[in-house]
Amino acid sequence: MKIFISENYDEMCRRALNHILQLLASIKNPLICPASGDTPAGLYKNLVSDVELKKIEINNWSFVGLDEWMGMNGNDQGSCRFHLNNQLFKPLNVKESQISFFDGRENDTNNECVKVEDFIFENGGIEVAIVGIGMNGHVGMNEPGTSKIIRSHVTEIHSETKISGQKYFTEKQELLQGITLGLANILEAHNIFLLASGQHKADIIKQVLEGEISDQFPSSLLREHPALYIYLDNEAADLLKKETIKN
Ligand code: PGA
Repeated sequence: MKIFISENYDEMCRRALNHILQLLASIKNPLICPASGDTPAGLYKNLVSDVELKKIEINNWSFVGLDEWMGMNGNDQGSCRFHLNNQLFKPLNVKESQISFFDGRENDTNNECVKVEDFIFENGGIEVAIVGIGMNGHVGMNEPGTSKIIRSHVTEIHSETKISGQKYFTEKQELLQGITLGLANILEAHNIFLLASGQHKADIIKQVLEGEISDQFPSSLLREHPALYIYLDNEAADLLKKETIKN
């Protein structure tokens, strides 16, 4: 893994995006897996701005959703798709045929998983996964205790996520289940960008990067990936040892 520490959130987002653009420059039809959540929002803002300023062109990019709350889809205010529609897909004018996303309102969850997995396969695998980290170390909706061999699945939302997930909604929600790419899917991505910002993430970042690799902290399993790039701001990196940062 390679760790990049920035002075602040804005710089972190800019640097991470530049790195991603550099990697994608030579890829013909890249498939991107963008997490929703507060952390990558700044990166998406920079991406939209670069496209609007015609610094880059992304017509050949496709997107696969990382996760969704069960019972919700893009029509639900606060859903993962809702946020990504507003932050990414609408401002970038991405065609529906270039997006595959879990529909948490569909009863046939198996079909949803097959749909998303097939899209990934047809597009040559995920070139870049952009993920955040939960306060409990989850990645996507892979909550503590999830095995690294699990692919797309329906998951029971962890008690911590039931609380922290409220911030995405304007009204209180009962968050019981999610549908998510599994750790196996994320580990198959060619490149993984994990972003974390803010003092409140410092403890979990220390645990995930310096603690034992364990399914109790699912993001720690990403450390086994050969192309894991970790972008932190100073606050999130605050508790890391010097030796960790040097790697
Ligand atoms: P956040 O969420 O970026 O909103 O902090 C991260 C996550 O829970 O994966």
